Amino acid sequence: MDIGIVIVAAGRGERAGSAEGPKQYRRIGGSAVIAHTLKAFLDWSKAGPIVVVIHPDDKLLFEEAVSGLATERVSTVTGGATRQQSVLAGLQAVAALDATHVMIHDGARPFVDRALLDRISARLEAGDDAVLPALPVTDTLKRGTEGRVIETVSREGLYAAQTPQSFRLATILEAHRRAAAESRSDFTDDCSIAEWAGVPVAIVEGSPDNVKLTVRRDITMADERLSAAAL
Ligand code: C5P
Repeated sequence: MDIGIVIVAAGRGERAGSAEGPKQYRRIGGSAVIAHTLKAFLDWSKAGPIVVVIHPDDKLLFEEAVSGLATERVSTVTGGATRQQSVLAGLQAVAALDATHVMIHDGARPFVDRALLDRISARLEAGDDAVLPALPVTDTLKRGTEGRVIETVSREGLYAAQTPQSFRLATILEAHRRAAAESRSDFTDDCSIAEWAGVPVAIVEGSPDNVKLTVRRDITMADERLSAAAL
């Protein structure tokens, strides 16, 4: 089994405050967010070719961000206007390299760890075509509108989805191409596309540390966490 890696990092990260630049290039613990994310995969022995999907304006930012890493196995490709389009660009690039399977990861999740990658790859090795890392929802959930609660929603059987969502490459590439051909552009993750295409999706336990940095505060907290760990 050859596992290609697609890291999507072509977003503008506007929710994290665009004045400071795209969030994947903000520094946490002394390095860019994307450098931490990429290093996690470079350090994982089962990772094959790695494709990072970047915004066309970010080429220099990316080169600077990863300049201290051994990037011989890493190539870049230009992303699209939506995450879904960026993933498809990455999948097409990884399909031209040596890979039978693929892990699709958000560049904005720098704390992905080897134990999680091993749990996922074990399920791919066991023959699952699609694997979702996820954690059961622990908060009490409310449906509301205009600042008022309508009802409490049962959290029974609900999971919060993480990445890397991982697949047999031919399966997810075909599902993505079909979604694009049918002008379905409303998918926010890749397992939703697999579900839509009728592919069964296995769930493995996610990691509580594997958070996505979305708003400015997430980046500050990630920086504090790495600085505390370095003491
Ligand atoms: O915006 P959000 O945090 O949901 O994006 C998740 C990931 O998808 C980020 O790593 C972001 O850079 C990436 N993305 C992308 N191309 C887009 C939009 C988002 O690669 N057009």
